[in-house]
Amino acid sequence: PLPGRFQVPLPVPPVARPVRVTADTDHYLVTQRVARVELIPGTTTEIWGYDGVFPGPTFRGRRGRRMVVTVRNELPVPTSTHLHGGVTPAGSDGFPTDLILPAGYSPAPPGHHGASGRHHDTTRDYTYPMTQRAATLWYHDHRMDFTGPQVWRGLAGLFLITDEVEAALPLPRGDRDLPLMICDRSFAADGSLKYPQRDMTHPGADGLFHAGIFGDVILVNGAPWPRAEVPAVRHRLRLVNGSNARRYRLSLSAGTITQIGSDAGLLSAPLPREDVLLAPGERSDVIADFTGLPAGTEVTMTNTLGEGPTADVMRFVITGPAADDSRIPATLATPETLDRTRAVAERRFDFRFGGGRWTINNQPYDPAATICSVREGTVELWRFTSDFHHPVHVHMAHFQVLSRGVNGPEPGDAGWKDTVDVRPYETVQVLVDFTGHRGRYMLHCHNLEHEDMAMMANFDIV
Ligand code: C2O
Ligand code: CU
Repeated sequence: PLPGRFQVPLPVPPVARPVRVTADTDHYLVTQRVARVELIPGTTTEIWGYDGVFPGPTFRGRRGRRMVVTVRNELPVPTSTHLHGGVTPAGSDGFPTDLILPAGYSPAPPGHHGASGRHHDTTRDYTYPMTQRAATLWYHDHRMDFTGPQVWRGLAGLFLITDEVEAALPLPRGDRDLPLMICDRSFAADGSLKYPQRDMTHPGADGLFHAGIFGDVILVNGAPWPRAEVPAVRHRLRLVNGSNARRYRLSLSAGTITQIGSDAGLLSAPLPREDVLLAPGERSDVIADFTGLPAGTEVTMTNTLGEGPTADVMRFVITGPAADDSRIPATLATPETLDRTRAVAERRFDFRFGGGRWTINNQPYDPAATICSVREGTVELWRFTSDFHHPVHVHMAHFQVLSRGVNGPEPGDAGWKDTVDVRPYETVQVLVDFTGHRGRYMLHCHNLEHEDMAMMANFDIV
């Protein structure tokens, strides 16, 4: 039985610790495994988790300090790990066919003996150079055709990067800096996670689920509609939409929300928000100010796009006043603002349903094909058009939203982004900066069922 809303204490995922530290690199080891955990009080749920927890351990990195994460796969299925928002070399980007295979796994279908006998690694090293600005990133599974069910079972976690600019700001810290990974799930009566798919051998979701797969339970850091007791001070909330397909419009019933960062880092100046709209994959870094609220005040975070159980997210219960030396400075950072004149090329990517699949420019995903080549270090204007809601995500390259429909960007489009929600029949123009690494990367819809139903494309950075 599901708990009542706002009963379960808010968990905070464990922080990953390096297994080895050298002069210039922190080495980590994380093992993907099956585990039974208590997501719903009084019952256990089988998950697939990084280190057997959901969300996985939170990585905390620092700009200028390289990280190498060894991922070991002890699951019964292949995996690939993508650092979402990472400025990552192509070989470490978690390409959907760069698989870590389970021990003894035969990639050939039953009855075939094609590649049998070949040795496959059950671990893979992912190198993150950490040359990017402070930001709230997340990591998750990216296996070709099976990202939706594998993330649903728990393969996702937070990855926070700090830098000198951020460290010098008087923002809330310690237990007043709360990562909140929000995702919806469904549970069967026995407590197991329910993904409406026949088994793990059929790619994509069934035709009935073309809009994506939605759950009726909202989890924050893996707990259903949790509750957090907090003093009446400013808190930093790292809001991450880790859902497969659900969008949220988040607001607080008391206190104020000021956005300080977007997907890829701090904004130049704080932005007061009534609510925060997050499509799958998007993040928003906000300050929730509870100053002056009397002890016992219940501050509910709601999702105005939800109905019934999915309209509630979590609750803060104010314990009383406390000292607070945090501030929201008028200037947060000095990110570069891209100008349209910088664009050396313009391209259009049309996200549309056709021929029974979700396609980009009428093509279903082919891991061997590329949709375009771009030059490293240049800026291009990319125009996304769509027939439906599609949160469009670009790997490696970050972008700024130039326009949405006939209007300029909306408040939620501010700052450097890696995912932008493209609404039905809307055109969103973005300026994409391809500075970083060369190699094969991808763009795709971050509705994970759309992604698994072929709404991805590769591009080469040359
Ligand atoms: Cu968060 Cu290619 O994905
Ligand atoms: Cu989509």
